Amino acid sequence: MRELGAQVIKTLPGKVIAEAPFEFVYLANYALRTAEKVYIYLVHGTIEDLKDIKSLSEEIDLSKYINGNETFGVKTKRFGSHPFTSIDVNRIVGEVIRRKFRLSVYLDNPDLEIKTWVIENIFIAGINTTGYSLYRRGYRIYQHPAPLKPTISSLLIRLSGWKPDKSLLDPMCGSGTIPIEAALMGRNVPSGYFRPYYQFYRLKFFERELFEDLKRRINARIKWDLKMQIYGTELYRKHLYGAISNAAMARVIDTVSFMVRDARELCNFLDFNVDYIVTNPPYGLKIASKKAVYKLYERFVRELDTCLSGTTAVVMTAEDYFWELIRDAFKVLEVREIMYGDLPTRVYKFVI
Ligand SMILES: C[S@@+](CC[C@H](N)C(=O)[O-])C[C@H]1O[C@@H](n2cnc3c(N)ncnc32)[C@H](O)[C@@H]1O
Repeated sequence: MRELGAQVIKTLPGKVIAEAPFEFVYLANYALRTAEKVYIYLVHGTIEDLKDIKSLSEEIDLSKYINGNETFGVKTKRFGSHPFTSIDVNRIVGEVIRRKFRLSVYLDNPDLEIKTWVIENIFIAGINTTGYSLYRRGYRIYQHPAPLKPTISSLLIRLSGWKPDKSLLDPMCGSGTIPIEAALMGRNVPSGYFRPYYQFYRLKFFERELFEDLKRRINARIKWDLKMQIYGTELYRKHLYGAISNAAMARVIDTVSFMVRDARELCNFLDFNVDYIVTNPPYGLKIASKKAVYKLYERFVRELDTCLSGTTAVVMTAEDYFWELIRDAFKVLEVREIMYGDLPTRVYKFVI
């Protein structure tokens, strides 16, 4: 957000509240790589009960954003324990808005989605300008059974410190999300380049010319000709073909090399230099597969130790066993906790 010119006011887990000129709505949606959705801030305050939520909702002013013909819906996410449910909040906020602005409710696919969060005793409300999440970039035509979101992939690449003049390998690349995001990042391709839809298309303030102009300015910085050393290897041919299809859709197939290889035999196939490794290996979510995953981790770590000394690595996994293997073997720079959906995972950054 800061890099794009916004002034960050506050960060909460999973949220950044920032101040910027109104056009930032377009820029943020089109260019942020690690955000899921962009909201226009409406109101926030501390609450104890539904009465407090009701009076905060009364303060919401939608007049700048609607012409009165829109359908609307309220969606709430609640964290903590409360004497009311999310559905109660939807109903209370919905009633206030329907009465005050005379909008009709349409829950399935409203023009205007009012999103509210109740986080312990804090209430926040905003307008969803994105629609479906920004991790849906528009280039993924092959769906891996356990894919990493492009938003999280970008985050891991950023965390690694990789720059386009360095080489990067994802040795368990699945459908190729990490190499593809790195290539797009290196070429300055905005995250929204392939995305066909934003919710703000349906909102009153939307000025197509303004948005097209902004896109033209950002797209002028794309370097389609830039060649980088980005590699993705994967054990299963099916996923690798998927990765190739996705990379072709993302127009980066000319700068990412994909190969079927076994990460347990990294040292045998590495005939190129690797400055950075960024990967999310399989997690043994079922007990039966835990043993196999532990074995894979042991052999993978042994390979790193044998032939990649000096390389910086970022690995995301839900298995604590990985920590046991690297803790004393490598120089660990950072450990972060990330929720992957409902699954708590850790991200390890270390130098081999
Ligand atoms: C969690 S998935 C990675 C998903 C990927 N980041 C994506 O976005 O599609 C882990 C991948 O590691 C692959 N894998 C498992 N064992 C492997 C091995 N020994 N060598 C290389 N890849 C392996 C799996 O087939 C799977 O595609």
